Parts: sequence; C-alpha cells; structure tokens
Amino acid sequence: MYFSPLSVIFTSSFVVSTLAATYQLSDNHVGTDFLSTFVHEAIPDPTHGRVNYVDQATALAQNLTFASGNTLIMRADSKTTLSASGPGRNSVRIHSNKKYTTHVSVFDIRHMPQGCGTWPAAWEVGDDWPNQGEVDIA
Ligand SMILES: *[C@@H]1O[C@H](CO)[C@@H](O)[C@H](O)[C@H]1NC(C)=O
Repeated sequence: MYFSPLSVIFTSSFVVSTLAATYQLSDNHVGTDFLSTFVHEAIPDPTHGRVNYVDQATALAQNLTFASGNTLIMRADSKTTLSASGPGRNSVRIHSNKKYTTHVSVFDIRHMPQGCGTWPAAWEVGDDWPNQGEVDIA
C-alpha cells in the first residue's frame, strides 16, 4: 500500500475478506498510527518526476508530514525557491510495513490537492511491480 501525495489528509482501514459475506477489521491506521505502521521512502522517484522524497525525520522536521489525533497530513514543500538545475521539491511517499493479500481497503481521505505540479495518489502493488500489477485507488 503506497501513498505519494502532495497534500493529503487521510485515515485508512484494512478489512480482510473471508469466503463468507462478512468482513472483519484487521488493521486500522489513523493519524499518528501512520508514523509507525508506514515507512517514508527517501528514494529517487521511480517514475522520474522532479521530486525529492525525504525520510520521516526530515518530513516531520519540515512539517511535510504532520500527524495529530485522527489526522495525517502529507504535503510537498511550498516555501523553498528551487534552483532550475537542482533537485526537485521535497515531498513524501510512504508505504505500509504490512503486506496484504486478500483484503478490502477503506480510505477516509478528507482532501487531495489538484493542479499543476501535483500528483497525489494512493495505490497498491505486488512485490514485483509492475509485473504483478497495480491498483490505483485515489
Ligand atoms: C504543521 O502543520 C500543521 C497542519 O497544517 C499546522 O497545524 C502546524 O502549525 C504546522 N507546524 C508548524 C511548526 O508550522
């Protein structure tokens, strides 16, 4: 489960399905939970966007990741003037520590940005992306 938003506020729940028509909650990630159940990926953008993904400590220090109560906010830096030839804007990308197979995911996202230069997203992939496919959720 991955998130790479530029300014997203959300909570999410993961529900495991059984063969019967009932579902049981297996995991519920709300607000500050994301700081321990998801990992910030400080990696070059796999899709070659002009962005600089930072680790959790940097994201928290720069308030690009903010968690409190039932709220998680992830955003891109909007204050720094970038060099035309330098690295891209600091932003965040996180993935869940836990891997899910058969499941239902429920997201409660209060806001996702739109506009030029934004690419907010929530998606799921197999270990061998793109060969195992991708589910784009939001
Ligand atoms: C960090 O972001 C939150 C949410 O937008 C805001 O309430 C808070 O004041 C910010 N903290 C700092 C130090 O700017």
